[in-house]
Amino acid sequence: MQLPLSLSKSILTPEENTTDDVVPFSSQLLKWIGNKQRFAPIIISFFPHRFRVYHEPFLGSGAVLGVLAPKYAEASDSFKPLIDIWQMLQSNPEVVKDWYRRRWLEFQEGDRVEKYEKIKARYNEKANAADFLFLVRAAYGGVVRFRKADGHMSTPCGVHQPIHYRSFSCRVNAWSERIRGSRFHHREYEESLDRAGEGDVVYCDPPYSHSQAILYGAQGFSPDEMFRKIEAAKRRGVFVALSLNASKKSGDTSFNYPIPSGFFARDVAMNCGRSMLRRFQMGGQTLEHEVVTDRLLLTH
Ligand SMILES: C[S@@+](CC[C@H](N)C(=O)[O-])C[C@H]1O[C@@H](n2cnc3c(N)ncnc32)[C@H](O)[C@@H]1O
Repeated sequence: MQLPLSLSKSILTPEENTTDDVVPFSSQLLKWIGNKQRFAPIIISFFPHRFRVYHEPFLGSGAVLGVLAPKYAEASDSFKPLIDIWQMLQSNPEVVKDWYRRRWLEFQEGDRVEKYEKIKARYNEKANAADFLFLVRAAYGGVVRFRKADGHMSTPCGVHQPIHYRSFSCRVNAWSERIRGSRFHHREYEESLDRAGEGDVVYCDPPYSHSQAILYGAQGFSPDEMFRKIEAAKRRGVFVALSLNASKKSGDTSFNYPIPSGFFARDVAMNCGRSMLRRFQMGGQTLEHEVVTDRLLLTH
């Protein structure tokens, strides 16, 4: 049946995402180095008010996705155990609760470091979402670090007590609601950027080029290729927001990626405080001069 144009248009045009209903949401599901939880509302405030699909190709712990709670989103990451957690959260949140509860209880019995190392050894034997979920909550500083030699996770046990499984279950419930409109994919960011179309928003939070080289398999990341993909997306009418990390040491700012000139329409500075990663590398010692400033670069 041929529909009148006005009617077919209203049926065929997908409903839009909006930033109008965004409220702060600070409960982290995963502890993740470099997560954007604190800055998510500010980052989102630079998005257009209405847009089609939201894309987050470097998902990590999904801080911006969680705050935005989009109606339509494509979220992805190249790190498989992480995406397995997100996919399970969506298809069966009770399983995610159970994964965490079992390991949390195991961790309480006897020596906590020994228990942690046992879970880590099991994960290193065979990478899996269930053990990885507990490890990110219990690892030192939420830093997921892999040894270059064998790719094994090497982060020691954190000094903190991982949150109680009941609190974690409440977080699972809250997050399940917020990711209802999202689809999760295990893939490289290039493919995700290529899939964004006119009227979509893409938020990119790539790994830090040097300091994160051994984090979450980020070796070989090419910023030049990322800029090429962003430029192509911009030409297709995609709004791209890109977070870039920069370390500020004794007044001297060094940015990780050389940014092609004239590429972005806006450049916003955000102060993130002291870097957790640097603290970790310095064995828990705090570095008062090391201030991490994030930049948010916008194509429009
Ligand atoms: C800085 S973290 C993102 C943090 C995130 N914004 C948050 O709030 O937790 C960068 C993420 O990019 C992922 N990643 C690294 N290289 C990638 C690639 N080539 N394609 C897709 N994802 C990649 C990492 O696994 C990591 O989760």
